[in-house]
Amino acid sequence: MTEQLTYTDDVAAATEGLFSKLSGQFKREHWETLAPYIYEINKLKREKNAVILAHNYMTPDIFYGVGDIVGDSLMLAQEAAKTDADIIVQCGVHFMAETAKVLCPDKKVLIPDMMAGCSLAESITAQDIRDLKAKYPGIPVVSYVNTSAEVKAETDVCCTSSNALKIVEALGREGHDTVIMTPDKFLAQNVVAQTSVKVIFWEGTCMVHERFTPQDILDARQSYGDDLVVLAHPECPPEVMAEADYAGSTAQMDKFIKEKQPRRAMLMTECSMSDNIAANNPGVELIGTCQMCPHMKRITLPKILKTLRDETPEVLIDPEIIERAKVSVNRMLELS
Ligand code: 13P
Ligand code: SF4
Repeated sequence: MTEQLTYTDDVAAATEGLFSKLSGQFKREHWETLAPYIYEINKLKREKNAVILAHNYMTPDIFYGVGDIVGDSLMLAQEAAKTDADIIVQCGVHFMAETAKVLCPDKKVLIPDMMAGCSLAESITAQDIRDLKAKYPGIPVVSYVNTSAEVKAETDVCCTSSNALKIVEALGREGHDTVIMTPDKFLAQNVVAQTSVKVIFWEGTCMVHERFTPQDILDARQSYGDDLVVLAHPECPPEVMAEADYAGSTAQMDKFIKEKQPRRAMLMTECSMSDNIAANNPGVELIGTCQMCPHMKRITLPKILKTLRDETPEVLIDPEIIERAKVSVNRMLELS
């Protein structure tokens, strides 16, 4: 059962500024149930020298309230590699926590809910990669970071949505006219549209982004007119990307909105991304098309507090897998 914390004067003093920023997202009544957790988590974080990595799909109370490092999968991996904290709490999904552990094997890496998985990571196993390598000898395997550490250990280079094209092109320059991309077939097909390198792809999909359709965009353009700018994540099907105005990772979408400040924007991605961008860009009207990731939504403030207090559940990986997975993750970081 979740304990009920009290909204005290100290909590109010520490969180009122943040509430002004997030008042478009939370009613006061709801906020007063969340703020005590933000207060307690931040206190405990300092006491334990812990750092919270929060993905862009975390709800705004987590993203703005307790996240120390926030961003897309690439940024979280890059920052995890640099931190001098003793404890990393990954507010995201399991593969992200594993990536942090691969890069920081001596640190304690915690995740508030071990069941926070990913349809892409679950679509492929290490044996599948070994089978692909046997079927296509000599062809390098590029795996999306949305994979388990075991899969990364069998992979030549990892990639994220922000650097997939760059990685494939780098392999092309090394003389590979064909690469294998796993597990996201849409990310692979979206890369194919931009490169001359041939790509053999796996049949995985993101259960969130596969649901968007080109009709969603056409309908929104009809309702909102010409000043609507549509941004789509490369995990969306290629026909959705073809209708969008801009394609990018979650961090690239964030940067685009910050810099261009369109009057109206629609993000073809997970719901919390729009909420987090809306809070930082009051001049931009965010049109509400979104799909919820049930895995990301397993992470909540009460679970984060419990994880920090109990220092569990901890993400542990066989050291031999860590050593091999590190090669493909580091290769990606070098090429990025
Ligand atoms: P990025 O934040 O790297 O764009 O990834 C999106 C995503 O679906 C992560 O699970
Ligand atoms: Fe996986 Fe898609 Fe959820 Fe990201 S949004 S964690 S890719 S299921």
